[in-house]
Amino acid sequence: MKTYQLKNETRVSRIACGCMNLGQLETVEDRERLIDTALSAGINFYDHADIYGAGYCETAFGELLKRNPAWRDHMVIQSKCGIRFAGDTYGDSAPSRYDFSYEHIMRSVEGILERLQIEQLDILLLHRPDLLMEPDEVARAFDALSGSGKVADFGVSNFDGHQIELLQRSLDQDLIVNQVEVSLLHAELIAEGARVNTGQGFAPASGMLDDCRLKGITIQAWSPVAGGRLFSPPADAPQNVRETSSLVHELAERHATNASAILLAWLLRHPAGIQPVLGTTNPERLRQSAEADGVELSREDWYSLLERAQGRSVP
Ligand SMILES: NC(=O)c1ccc[n+]([C@@H]2O[C@H](COP(=O)([O-])OP(=O)(O)OC[C@H]3O[C@@H](n4cnc5c(N)ncnc54)[C@H](OP(=O)(O)O)[C@@H]3O)[C@@H](O)[C@H]2O)c1
Repeated sequence: MKTYQLKNETRVSRIACGCMNLGQLETVEDRERLIDTALSAGINFYDHADIYGAGYCETAFGELLKRNPAWRDHMVIQSKCGIRFAGDTYGDSAPSRYDFSYEHIMRSVEGILERLQIEQLDILLLHRPDLLMEPDEVARAFDALSGSGKVADFGVSNFDGHQIELLQRSLDQDLIVNQVEVSLLHAELIAEGARVNTGQGFAPASGMLDDCRLKGITIQAWSPVAGGRLFSPPADAPQNVRETSSLVHELAERHATNASAILLAWLLRHPAGIQPVLGTTNPERLRQSAEADGVELSREDWYSLLERAQGRSVP
């Protein structure tokens, strides 16, 4: 599989394997087959979060690493912290919240390393912007984690450009990743660039994509196949979803590939170097998804898909 170079100069597969649903697989053999398929397809990047399966997904992955110690050398392992569910630690009265306090970040990383059974996490992301974020406090945690060697590099998830800038100003380490939702059905980040000064759309352009490109921050796309909604939408699905789906299947036939590969190739075609993070738990679908690496969509294919998904052409 072709690779991207992250800002820290690590080479990573253009497609990453997300581990949020790993816990849905019942046996260790099923989980092993999934990750083995990913490795065989050339995927060297594995995405976790401390909350996936309430920690179980990391525990299950740690168990796989124990059974297959040679895998670690071929993997970049990323996890996230900062989301706390209602009732977490302080009893039922605590609401769902984000927590970038020094104590929470440090405690989360201890848990992540223990569950994954590794000494160092390659990349730690802050999962969703904490509205009470104190950049200097985050910097203190990152310094401690960097200094002790527990985390090699840092990034964010679901941040916009200004939030990144605010945090980066306090940090000694470069933020190297921003993981956000992007797919044909959630393409505002990409499509907004065509609406500058047209009066179309109400949201002002966030410019986040270009901002990350300017800063050398890799955009990772979560839910890159829109959670599976485009494969066989029901008859009462919105028109744009049904029409996009039929074009995806048409292009899959024309490119002698499958629908997943077309959806992912649409993301890979963007010059920002977007890294889709797969969510499938099915080894065959994962293998088919990896075919996207060999699919080159033309400009016309790419804009046709955007047009169908948005339900209108560019201005
Ligand atoms: N940073 C964040 O806030 C955030 C949020 C959500 C997720 N993530 C990361 O992103 C990763 C991917 O997220 P996601 O799971 O939402 O992404 P996704 O890949 O868009 O959706 C996965 C879903 O689509 C289904 N699917 C995939 N291919 C299919 C096909 N060919 N036909 C029918 N169904 C198909 C899967 O079912 P099967 O398993 O049966 O194939 C699964 O239910 C996660 O694992 C996690 O690492 C990050």
